[in-house]
Amino acid sequence: MAMIARKCPEVRVTVVDINVERIAQWQSGSLPIYEPGLKEVVDECLNRNLFFSTDVDRAIAEADMIFVSVNTPTKTFGQGAGRAADLQYWEKTARQILANSTTDKIVVEKSTLPVRTAAAMQRILDSGPGTVKFEVLSNPEFLAEGTAIADLQNPDRVLIGGHATEAGRRAVAALVDLYAHWVPRERILTTNVWSAELSKLAANAFLAQRVSSINALSALCEATEADVGEVARAIGMDSRIGPRFLNASVGFGGSCFKKDILNLVYLCESYGLAESAAYWQQVVSMNDWQQDRFVRNMVGRMFNTVSGKRVALFGFAFKKDTGDTRESPAIRVARQLVEERAQVVVTDPKALKNAASDLRDLGDRVIFEPDPYAAAAGAHAIALMTEWDCYAALDYRRIYAGMMKPAFVFDGRNRLDHQALYEIGFNVCGIGKTPLSDL
Ligand code: UGA
Repeated sequence: MAMIARKCPEVRVTVVDINVERIAQWQSGSLPIYEPGLKEVVDECLNRNLFFSTDVDRAIAEADMIFVSVNTPTKTFGQGAGRAADLQYWEKTARQILANSTTDKIVVEKSTLPVRTAAAMQRILDSGPGTVKFEVLSNPEFLAEGTAIADLQNPDRVLIGGHATEAGRRAVAALVDLYAHWVPRERILTTNVWSAELSKLAANAFLAQRVSSINALSALCEATEADVGEVARAIGMDSRIGPRFLNASVGFGGSCFKKDILNLVYLCESYGLAESAAYWQQVVSMNDWQQDRFVRNMVGRMFNTVSGKRVALFGFAFKKDTGDTRESPAIRVARQLVEERAQVVVTDPKALKNAASDLRDLGDRVIFEPDPYAAAAGAHAIALMTEWDCYAALDYRRIYAGMMKPAFVFDGRNRLDHQALYEIGFNVCGIGKTPLSDL
């Protein structure tokens, strides 16, 4: 919304939320999330044509176009628990829009939703007594965290799904006009509503599937002395495959991949497509296995016990350049290490607050330390969980000097210089690589 405000100065954008504290933070210009470049965009537009408010009813009443971006987490109860999307906030919002509208509205689905949710939205909106007309569009978001501003500024494509009626076409044209302020027309793709809804789930499923595929191969590399980096490079140079999203890792995290794939699995099952469901389920299962395998390998290498040993986790965010820790592999790894009775020390440049909240039930078994040198002091092992650039630039000689020996580095992102670490004296284990170790 901040980018729309920046690029369309004649449009008044009001962002509303029921969370009073968050809205106050946005209003004050001190942002509640870390995202490179976002503050500059907000600062430019704040109180010019970008406003934040908790008065949801009023903002609905005044709007011509409403982007619904409420959360659609995985259901934790009832039918489809653990897989289906929880649509309660979504439906509540639909009813709130209906209750507060006295003029026609275009309602844009921004949240990621199961295919055909727009039909339910339309039915709720059409259930009112009045003459107000609503047109529902699907406009899924493809930005990634950490690179959100660049992704919004220069998107590969913008996808808009609408109905093939006269009113549907008019609504699609209005939204196209908004994006056309800065996105070349040929990159604005218009489809039917269901294709747009499904494309969002499909894009995330394909991206996650690439990570799970290379991670599946990483285990085979470790067993055969093939190097997963070399394999990724070799296959990525095939222009049909392409080089991106082939970095083997401790596993993918983030609020979207797992949730969206589970949603896709549930959808497939609901339509009786058991094989399609099982196919996508395996992408998530492989990801869980990769994280478990990482911890198993750590324990195995450290003489089958980490009990009482200090282990420093470098990074806790699910990827670099964000403070977001949702579904971060570091959560699962930290929990399993604590189960093995290790003393875990977490360090991260932006995610320590979220990390402390994710692991608060573990009490003093986990320490949170902003300084990576202090985190590693007295540790038996370092595990790189997030590929923050700052961790590649540390003085590992100094770190080695302060650690227990033999000292281990488990590089869950293959981002450190393994040969250099080995020459310092570390035992080094990457993902999909033969360990460098004298033990
Ligand atoms: C993802 C998609 O990339 C966006 O297009 C989408 O809009 C977004 O989800 C969403 O649905 O909101 P995001 O979760 O921010 O974006 O982050 P990604 O860059 O996709 O990374 C996801 C996870 O995969 C991270 O944990 C990352 O470290 C991991 N990953 C990624 C790998 O392990 N290896 C790779 O080669 C690439």
